[in-house]
Amino acid sequence: MELFNRIEQTAAYIRGKIAAEPRVGIILGSGLGDLTNIIEKTATLSYTDIPNFPVSTVKGHGGELVFGKIGQTDVVLMSGRFHYYEGYSMDKITFPVRVMKALGAEILVLSNAAGGMNRDFKIGDLMIITDHINLFPEHPLRGPNDDRLGTRFPDMSKPYDNALIEKARSIARERGVDVKTGVYVGLQGPTFETPAEYRWLHVIGGDAVGMSTVPEVIVACHSGMRVFALSVITDIGISDVPVVITHEEVLEAANAAAPVMAGIVEDLVRSL
Ligand code: HPA
Repeated sequence: MELFNRIEQTAAYIRGKIAAEPRVGIILGSGLGDLTNIIEKTATLSYTDIPNFPVSTVKGHGGELVFGKIGQTDVVLMSGRFHYYEGYSMDKITFPVRVMKALGAEILVLSNAAGGMNRDFKIGDLMIITDHINLFPEHPLRGPNDDRLGTRFPDMSKPYDNALIEKARSIARERGVDVKTGVYVGLQGPTFETPAEYRWLHVIGGDAVGMSTVPEVIVACHSGMRVFALSVITDIGISDVPVVITHEEVLEAANAAAPVMAGIVEDLVRSL
C-alpha cells in the first residue's frame, strides 16, 4: 500500500479508538521515558496493536503511543522510538511522525541522548537543538514524492522553530537551568564514535552527536510541522584521553536529567 494510504489507514484506526485531536506530538529518547509522567493520560495504544506501526526492539525503549493532556494542550507521545541501527527503513522510522501530523499535530517535540563535543558541555547538560547535520547514509524523503504530504524539495533553512527555542530558553532561565544550545549531528550508529570521529564531527560544526532525531525532523519539516528538540548530554567524546562509553552510562545520565527535561517540556507545551 502506498505511504499516503497507510497513513490514512493508521490514523483512521487510532481515531476509531480515541477521540483526542493532538496538537503536539512528542518523541522521547533513550532513558527519557520518565517524561510520560507529565501527561495526564487519557488513552494508551501499544505499537503492536496499531496497523502499519513498527515495533521497538531495544532494551530501555518502551513501545506505546500515549494520548493525553499537558495543561490544556492535547498531545500524543511516542514512548519508545525507532532507530536506523535497529534495521528499520527510514520509511518505518518516520511513519509515526506522518501519523501524528495526520491526527492533527502541528508541532513536534523530540528528545534524545547525545554525546557532547563542545568543550563547554558536561555530562547531564541539556542542549536545545538549533540546527542539525544529517550524516545518515539514507534520506527519509528519497523516492517518489507525494505532493499531498509535502513538497519535493523542502526548505531546511529553519528546521527548528525559533519561537519555540526562545520560549524554552526563557523557561529554562525561570527554572534556573543552565541550558545550552547547539548543532546536533545525526548518524547511524550503533557504534559510538572513535576519538578521531568526535574531533571531526566537532570540526564540521557539531556540538552533540546521536543516532536519532534527524530523520523524524526532516519528515516533520516536509509535512510542515514546527519542531523543537532537546538533547541530554550523556557522555563527552572530546577529551585528551580516550573515554570508554557504554549504553548503561548513557541511560543513567539520561535518567538523571529526565526530570529537568520533563519540567522544561511541560512548561513549553503548557505555554502553547
Ligand atoms: N554518540 C552517538 N550517540 C550517542 C552518544 C554518542 O556519544 N551518546 C548518546 N548517544
